Amino acid sequence: MPVTDNVQIAPAEGKLGILIPGIGAVSTTFIAGVEAIKRGLGLPVGSLTQLSTVRLGKRTDGRSPKIKDFVPLAGLEDLVFGGWDIYEDTAYESAVNAKVLEPSLLAQLKEPLSAIKPMKAVFDPEYIRRINGPNVKTKGSKMDKAQALMDDIAQFRESTGVSRVVMIWCGSTEVFHRAAAVHQTIESFEKGLCNNDPDIAPSQIYAYAALKSGVPFANGAPNLTTDTPALLDMARDFNLPICGKDFKTGQTFMKTLLAPGFKARMLGINGWFSTNILGNRDGEVLEDPGSFKTKEETKLSVLDQILQPKLYPDLYENLYHAVRINYYPPRGDAKEGWDNIDIFGWLGYPMQIKIDFLCRDSILAAPLVLDLVLFMDLAQRCGMRGIQEWLSFYFKAPMTAPGLYPEHDVFIQLMKLKNTLRWMRGEDLITHLGLEYYD
Ligand SMILES: NC(=O)c1ccc[n+]([C@@H]2O[C@H](COP(=O)([O-])OP(=O)(O)OC[C@H]3O[C@@H](n4cnc5c(N)ncnc54)[C@H](O)[C@@H]3O)[C@@H](O)[C@H]2O)c1
Repeated sequence: MPVTDNVQIAPAEGKLGILIPGIGAVSTTFIAGVEAIKRGLGLPVGSLTQLSTVRLGKRTDGRSPKIKDFVPLAGLEDLVFGGWDIYEDTAYESAVNAKVLEPSLLAQLKEPLSAIKPMKAVFDPEYIRRINGPNVKTKGSKMDKAQALMDDIAQFRESTGVSRVVMIWCGSTEVFHRAAAVHQTIESFEKGLCNNDPDIAPSQIYAYAALKSGVPFANGAPNLTTDTPALLDMARDFNLPICGKDFKTGQTFMKTLLAPGFKARMLGINGWFSTNILGNRDGEVLEDPGSFKTKEETKLSVLDQILQPKLYPDLYENLYHAVRINYYPPRGDAKEGWDNIDIFGWLGYPMQIKIDFLCRDSILAAPLVLDLVLFMDLAQRCGMRGIQEWLSFYFKAPMTAPGLYPEHDVFIQLMKLKNTLRWMRGEDLITHLGLEYYD
């Protein structure tokens, strides 16, 4: 029987613009990677949209197309990049400074990367304290700055001729703050922009400008940003997808692999101590207690949600969980993350697990940026609006509808993502029941 899509999917015609606040280590590794892959200089390792398949129908059907052949995604050759930063460095200069990719590789990509000159940023040193730069918008109220960002977006559309745009925050982590009165309604938020309300963070001004310009918004940092009633309402009212928060890359990725495994086997955990050293600009910003607090919240929430101590008090009620991050310049972007896990088994007998993950932060994050922008564009072409929970797979602190707890188990997240793709194309969802094979 021919299958019919559950949603109308507009074709991925024309070019897709990708606008990025923050032309730093992650975003330049992503952009340089796409340019390298286009030239046959590397493979898109870590990217589901480029490499992964999706099984359709029964296990005996032998139908496993690549995701990119199953749903209509923008091609890498159709991506056009732009962004904002507080520093004037081009994407080439910033990539050289970040020292993630080899100079010899960057030299081959100098032309496209040098063409990306960051637009003037909306910045507030109250929200990001350890860095400061000259390339910022200084005039007018927060509303004037939002308007200036909307002008930037319109200008980018016009000069590049893109047919669609997605924005993804790859800027530094802002200090911890909670949704305040100004964030409760669109009206109060707009009034706050006009009155320069101190509770409105720069990332929220970018998100507002994106949504007002008909652009989906993804958040790669743990900032509050769109996790407020006003911006959630805007996304729904304007039929735009949003998602976040905080790319799930190194240590938290390991946690969401291991913790569901321990819980699946009903093994107990007494303690989980995680510590990191990293020496990139992200590490420098996270030295500030305000920014660290934002990061700590997303990193700590994971275990509680996965292990459900209220359901399993004997196993997880007394779990002591601590996360530390130390700025250590000699390592640059090559982070080292240690985990000491005190687990217990049969009759409470203790065991220990030690993990030493010598990872490369931006190498792990770049494919997530690629997948997110392609999937957010797909979501928009499907008419999906508001929080895209099916993209939880990519985040440490997945956004969910108010009152719903987030799903952190990476394998459940993957199933949800692939089932969403199957649902879009009208294919049967895979439940793994499988009784039919034994009839
Ligand atoms: N694996 C990872 O690398 C990883 C994982 C999860 C989350 N993140 C988050 O992604 C973000 C980017 O990480 P990175 O390693 O590229 O950091 P980075 O410091 O190299 O880059 C961030 C850039 O954002 C710029 N910036 C800060 N405020 C800005 C503003 N208001 N407007 C425009 N630009 C602004 C900074 O000048 C800097 O160039 C951070 O928030 C980080 O916490 C990274």
